[in-house]
Formats: sequence, structure tokens, C-alpha cells
Amino acid sequence: MLLTVVCVKLIWGLVGLRESVAQNATGKDEWWRDTFIYQVYPRSFKDSNGDGVGDLNGITSKLEHLVDLGVSTVWLSPIYASPMVDFGYDISNFTAIDPIFGTIDDFKRLTTRAKALKLKVVLDFVPNHSSDKHPWFLKSVQRIKPFDEYYIWKDAKMVNGTRKPPNNWLSEFQGSAWQWNDQRKQYYYHEFTVGQPDLNYRSTALQEEMKNVFRFWLNLGVDGFRVDAINFLVEDSRFLDEPKIPNTGFQDTDPRTLRHIYTSDQNETYDIVASWRKLVDSTNGTRKIILTEAYTTLPYAMKYYQFGSNIPFNFIFLRNITSVSKPVDYKRAIDRYLNSIPAGYVANWVTGNHDNSRVASRFGPHRADQITMIAAILPGVGIIYNGDEIGMIDRPMSWNETIDPAGCNAGPSRYNLTSRDPARTPFQWDSSINAGFSTGKKTWLPVHSNYKTLNLQAEKTTQKSSYAITKRLISLKQNPVVQRGTTQVTAIYDAFLGIARRLPNQSPVVLIVNLYNHSMHYDVATFMNIPKQMTVYVANAAANLSIGAKINTSFLQLPGNASVILL
Ligand code: NOJ
Repeated sequence: MLLTVVCVKLIWGLVGLRESVAQNATGKDEWWRDTFIYQVYPRSFKDSNGDGVGDLNGITSKLEHLVDLGVSTVWLSPIYASPMVDFGYDISNFTAIDPIFGTIDDFKRLTTRAKALKLKVVLDFVPNHSSDKHPWFLKSVQRIKPFDEYYIWKDAKMVNGTRKPPNNWLSEFQGSAWQWNDQRKQYYYHEFTVGQPDLNYRSTALQEEMKNVFRFWLNLGVDGFRVDAINFLVEDSRFLDEPKIPNTGFQDTDPRTLRHIYTSDQNETYDIVASWRKLVDSTNGTRKIILTEAYTTLPYAMKYYQFGSNIPFNFIFLRNITSVSKPVDYKRAIDRYLNSIPAGYVANWVTGNHDNSRVASRFGPHRADQITMIAAILPGVGIIYNGDEIGMIDRPMSWNETIDPAGCNAGPSRYNLTSRDPARTPFQWDSSINAGFSTGKKTWLPVHSNYKTLNLQAEKTTQKSSYAITKRLISLKQNPVVQRGTTQVTAIYDAFLGIARRLPNQSPVVLIVNLYNHSMHYDVATFMNIPKQMTVYVANAAANLSIGAKINTSFLQLPGNASVILL
């Protein structure tokens, strides 16, 4: 027993030590630390001109909602000129606004208003590919210098007199990643759709062009960038076949059948990120934030910190933790992630985005707010997707309604496994026509039919709504114990997940989640070494507890799916 106490103290001591190192090295005044960042998917946020697609003026008109929530930053998914094959992630001019979203003056008005409201603005930066309609690509096809080298071109492999792609590399969106171009008489490489040719970072001219894109938006006063698909930036120059993973059960066209050792996570990628860090740091004004998107292994993700990313997205709630995860699975994933962060860097927790099923659909409506609660109590930055703050759920789509290339390319029998349309439907503002999103006859994706009851306006008058809970969770980041405390994650048997944050001489902040769907009780006070009497800071609807209620933690009884934060 004594030994256990000594060990526990020793471990706490070490945790405390690491925490203080972390603070000194990060400079605890980075503006994004201990805040939530809010992702706006522009096509679906607010339509100001009735064409059924969201736009910049629509976003500007709703910035107060973000202030009201208390987030620090708005990250805008792409707003650039685009044929919209991948709904803006296929860019035909990196420094122009697509007319569907508005004009550069609309953008300036948006940033001016954001500044007045003390909101930071982060843009999506899509460096891996352009649109095949980009003038660079059109000139590359014609072999005009220096554009001839701006993309990844390779000769065909001739097999028994038949033209074949240069190797077996597969697109993220199914099928060969190579597309034949009859004019240039070569294949070009595309990690994503055929309409998104990959850029070639071995061309120094191309590297400089992309730096100019950064400069253009920095000059307009943006506060940072979310860098898209960063792990795919560079490919191995030997163009060897990637090894097959045996028995995946997936079709041969599925990228999950290959180990992406030549198309992902290449060393040169990190050096390029470091060069961008240098570039953004050389601009005047507020410190700029770089967020990087890479669905990759933990070591590869962590490496981005040291090469200049402030927020290498942490996708554990989108990949490692699912609706069937047990308390011990949460504990393992959270501890592993926290223990992997190099000293001095800030953790982050992505709860949802436009590429994945919505959080309330992934974990079930009764547990809609549970992941946001975990993200709020854990140290570091939370990243929340528009609509999740009101508990929006996926809107199932028929094959005929499906427009996302990731769904369309998978075909009618499998589109619903890969399509991202269901999570991208218009924001539900109120119970008026089109949920207050648009006055148009038709919206680009259908509005979820539940909007009459599930909408922001209704939730503003409901006590235990996702909106009310999220708002309280966002302000929890300002609590000093949550900002600087140590972190203890506990699996209480198979049912409860406990997270306690502590600072010396202060009462802890504690989250308890009942992962069972029926009522359970435990002596959580003894289990987690927390006070026997605590007060409810916030609870989800399933918990049936009011803010401020006093709770006896030595006999904590929670209904199924309940989660509660105690002070
Ligand atoms: C990641 C983006 O989030 C996704 O929406 C897009 O399809 C791919 N990158 C390609 O840009």
C-alpha cells in the first residue's frame, strides 16, 4: 500500500514536472491555447443570396453566433475559385474567391468584422493538388516551362503492347491514382479525384508559387492556415509499387489494400512544412497558427510539431474511439496521445469535421455531447465542426442524391460507406424555410428533416440543449485547473470513464461518463481520490442533473449514457 502511494506520488511529481516544462517552452500566451477553434464549411453555413449555397456574406452575418459560443477562431474550408469537383478542395486559382462564395471585398468585410469581434480567421490551404482546370495544369499539359514540372508526370508502363499506369498506386477516392493525358502522352498522379492533379514539390518554381499564395492571404491579415492532406505532399521519386496488405477484405481498387510507404509521410514533406513556418513567422502582426491535417500514425503526426505545426490534428475521436469503445479504450488512446506530445507543445482534440460522420451520429444522439465534454476537460485546444454545437446528425442520402466524389466513386452498393454528404447538410438556424439557411427553392444538399425541432433558435431556449452545454464547455477552457492542471484518466470497471484535472491546493475538475446504456453506480470518490461532495458544472441531457446540484461522489449513480462535469 505504502509502495503504491509512493509510486503514485512519484508519477504525479513527474507529470507535474512535465507540465511545467511544457508551459515554459510553449509560451503560455499563444492565443489559441485553451480555446476552441470552430470549423465553418462555407457551402453549408449561411446563404445570403438565395442560390442555395452558403457564402461569405452569409458567414459574416453569423459571426456573432461564434462570439456567443465563445470560440477563439473561425477556420474556413476552401473559398477559392474552383470547379467544385471536390466542393472547393479542387482549386483553379489559389488567390481568388469563387463567385459562388462572393468577392474579395466580401472576404475583406468578413475579416474586418471578425477582427472587430476579436475572432481570429484561419484559411484552408490546399498544397497537395490543384484543379485540373488550373492554368498551371493546362500549361503543364503543353510542357510550357516551368509549368511542365509543376505536376507528377510519368510515362506509361507498356505490358504486352498495352498502356498501363506506371505503378499500382491507388487514389484515396478509389481506383488507380494515375490518369492518362492524351495531349502530353503521359500519366499524371492524383491522390484524390482525377480533377485534382498532385503538385510536384521537387520543382522549386512550384514551391515558390505556393509560398506566394501564403503571402497573398497573409497580406490580407489572416491569422493562420489549416493545411490540407499534408501527409500526401511528396511521393517517393523511385515510383515503386506499394506493398499489398493481405486479406483486407476490401476490393482491389480500395486504397486500404496498400501500405502507403511511398505516397504518404515522406521526410521531405516535413522540411517543406518547416519552410512554411519560417515564412509565416516572418510576417508582422499577431503570431500565426498552422494546423495540419494528416490521418496517419501517431509518431508521424507528432513529428509535425517539431517542423512547425502548432496543431497536428488529433483524430483519436474520429478513428481510435468509436461508439463501442470501453473506458479502458478511451484511457489508452488519451494517455498514449498525451504521452506522445513532445515537451512544450499543446494538445488538441478534433471532435468532428466535414469528412466524417457527425459526432452525434457516431456516438448516438443520447451521447451527442460526450465527446465535446472530453475535449473540453482535457488540456489544449478543441476543434469543433459547425452544427455539432447544436447536435446536428447525419442526413442519410440515397444514391441519386449523392454528389460527394468519395461516395460517387464507390458506386451504388458502397457509396454510403464513404460518402461525406450526410455530414455536410445546411446548418439548422431556425424552424423557418430551409432551416433559415437559405431563402432559395433548393439547397445544394437537402436540409435534414429534423430541423423544425433541432435548430439553434429552439436550443437557445432549452436548458439542456447541446447548444447550452457546448457554450458552457467552451468557457470551461478558461478554468485555471483545466488550463494548467495535471490529467488523470481512469477506467472505472467497464462502465465509467473518469477524467480528473488537478492543481495543488485547488479542488479538482472531474468528468464522469457512463458508457453503459443503463444506470450504474460506483464510489467514484475513492476510486479517483476526489472530494466526496462536488457540484455539477454541466451535464448532458441523459444525466438528468441540473447545473449547481450537489453530488455525493462516494455513491455516484448515473443513468445510461450520462456524462457530467463536477467542480
Ligand atoms: C482533405 C479534405 O478535408 C477533404 O475534404 C478533401 O476531399 C481532401 N483533403 C482532398 O483535398
